Amino acid sequence: MRPAIRPATADDLPAVAALDEVCFGAEAWSTVSWAAEFDRLSEDRLLLVADEGDIVGYVVLLVPPVELDVVELLRIAVAPAGRRTGIGGQLMTAALAGCAGRTVLLEVAAGNESARGLYRAFGFAEISRRRGYYAGGEDAVIMRWREER
Ligand SMILES: CC(C)(COP(=O)(O)OP(=O)(O)OC[C@H]1O[C@@H](n2cnc3c(N)ncnc32)[C@H](O)[C@@H]1OP(=O)(O)O)[C@@H](O)C(=O)NCCC(=O)NCCS
Repeated sequence: MRPAIRPATADDLPAVAALDEVCFGAEAWSTVSWAAEFDRLSEDRLLLVADEGDIVGYVVLLVPPVELDVVELLRIAVAPAGRRTGIGGQLMTAALAGCAGRTVLLEVAAGNESARGLYRAFGFAEISRRRGYYAGGEDAVIMRWREER
């Protein structure tokens, strides 16, 4: 069964925060940070969840209302048991569906092969790096996507 991809609602906050904890451990966003993301859903956040009864994935984008401003993909994750089954791809497809004609940027740890593989598969290209950006000295890779209307 493919999960349904749908916009998050306030009720999803505990499940999304819990899944974030599973996926990112010490790097997880706090419940307060997640609450701030959910508070901005009607402003400039696009938060989609993959729902198969339980929430098995999510993606968060900063989508400024001004068309010329860059969109930022802030976070994407899939529950460990569901990885490599296409859920990340479903989330990316849905997230990028409304981004034609806009520039989308993201930042990813150089050693995060799964995420970089996913982004490359969706046409993101590496445009720059922040050397030694992460704790431990790992580079941040900046990737860009743009598809004309
Ligand atoms: C990155 C992540 C979201 C990918 O989700 P996923 O559901 O496993 O991705 P999909 O199954 O849809 O894969 C789509 C494509 O991405 C690429 N990809 C996914 N996992 C990969 C891996 N481990 N190595 C290389 N490429 C990979 C492949 O091109 C894949 O297509 P294919 O399976 O036909 O080869 C998932 O690995 C994850 O949650 N990682 C932990 C959280 C994280 O690091 N998020 C990114 C930073 S915010």
